[in-house]
Amino acid sequence: MDSKSDIERQLKDLIKQYFDRQGSEDFQKGKTPIKLITPSYGYEEVAEALECLLSTQVTMARKVQQFEAMFAEYIGMRHAVMVNSGSSANLLALSILTNPAIKNRIKPGDEVITPAVTWATTVWPIVNCGAVPVLVDIGLDTFNLNVDEVRKAITRKTRAIMLVHLLGNPCDIMPILELAREHNLYVIEDSCEAHGAEVDGRKVGSFGDISTFSFFFSHHISTMEGGMVLTNNQEFGEMARAMRVFGWIRDLKEKDRIATEHQDIDRRFLFTNIGYNFRPTELQGGFGIHQLGKLEPFIKARQENSQFWHEQLKKHEKHILLHQERKGTRHVWFGYPITVRPDAPFSRKDIVDFLENKKVETRPIMAGNIVEQPAMGLIKYRTAGELPNSRLVMRNSFFFGNHQAIGPVERSAIVEYFDEFMAGISRS
Ligand SMILES: Cc1ncc(COP(=O)(O)O)c(C=O)c1O
Repeated sequence: MDSKSDIERQLKDLIKQYFDRQGSEDFQKGKTPIKLITPSYGYEEVAEALECLLSTQVTMARKVQQFEAMFAEYIGMRHAVMVNSGSSANLLALSILTNPAIKNRIKPGDEVITPAVTWATTVWPIVNCGAVPVLVDIGLDTFNLNVDEVRKAITRKTRAIMLVHLLGNPCDIMPILELAREHNLYVIEDSCEAHGAEVDGRKVGSFGDISTFSFFFSHHISTMEGGMVLTNNQEFGEMARAMRVFGWIRDLKEKDRIATEHQDIDRRFLFTNIGYNFRPTELQGGFGIHQLGKLEPFIKARQENSQFWHEQLKKHEKHILLHQERKGTRHVWFGYPITVRPDAPFSRKDIVDFLENKKVETRPIMAGNIVEQPAMGLIKYRTAGELPNSRLVMRNSFFFGNHQAIGPVERSAIVEYFDEFMAGISRS
């Protein structure tokens, strides 16, 4: 009879054969879907996950730790704490900065500046932690925080800027950091859509007091669900490690000292802070270890696609606005965004319907102008001005997929669909 390790080897062999057989079908124009995302994992990740299942080490352990160390090094931050989603990462970041244990904490009713166009769980954690979000307009060329608007939005109550590198395009971070220093504000970098993006050769997610990432299925790299909190601040790092798991001391570097101070309490269940259960599984850590090695080639594919689309779609700029990569930055293209100009002789719906009919999957730009979402009726918030660009993005912008599975054939097809649509417009 085969030993358990022989069977494990055979299972892994079969998994390898399975993934080796997954060839791509021939592309048929107008028939083959061009999806928003295709899975980024394969044999290595599934074999790693199988190891966890067979060994029964399924809850957070060494693989998570290994991925944390690798990701901390990749981004260039001292502490990386993996959690079960990017939303949890944002909530953990805000929970640290509002925590009674820190000296200069953000207090209830204090304000946190954030862009009006982002994902919902950039904004909700601010509210969940008792602070007031101040929604600021974005630039139409980058969909990122407009620095002048941020400056105008700062009041005596402002305590933090929660910026977002939306769709992989790095924020104009230097002037924002300057403003933060001037006004003594915390900076949180929501980098959930910007793995590997850079400003002046330095990774986004390494500039703020705390930064966050998401490894959801549709992101540059994925651990199925998953997220990361990063910081260079030792105190914040320790708090993230405690608050990720109920507030107990088990994962703390200082656990022995703390346990000695509380000898009357069983150190196995000793809680020094309030917390959550945001633990990832060990399978997710295993995925991360292999995904990180694939990130750079994935980014390269995205950049090649966007460069091609930029060159080819320029001819339609009379009617559409293309996204810009600012000088000195590395944009990592979460998708490829398009804004229909307000004076174009067609609506966003017209072009989106046309593309969807050709089987090109599209999406709105995240939550659009979040101020217009019904959930905002439940919360206290402030807006800085009328947010004209955010309103326009909500009505006129969309994106289609840009990822490692889109190659020359698919990206050319997309250009041909645009050409066909625009030819139809000029005839009518
Ligand atoms: C900018 C931004 N922040 C936060 C999140 C939340 O991440 P998750 O879906 O992993 O909870 C997302 C998710 O797409 C995002 O795009």
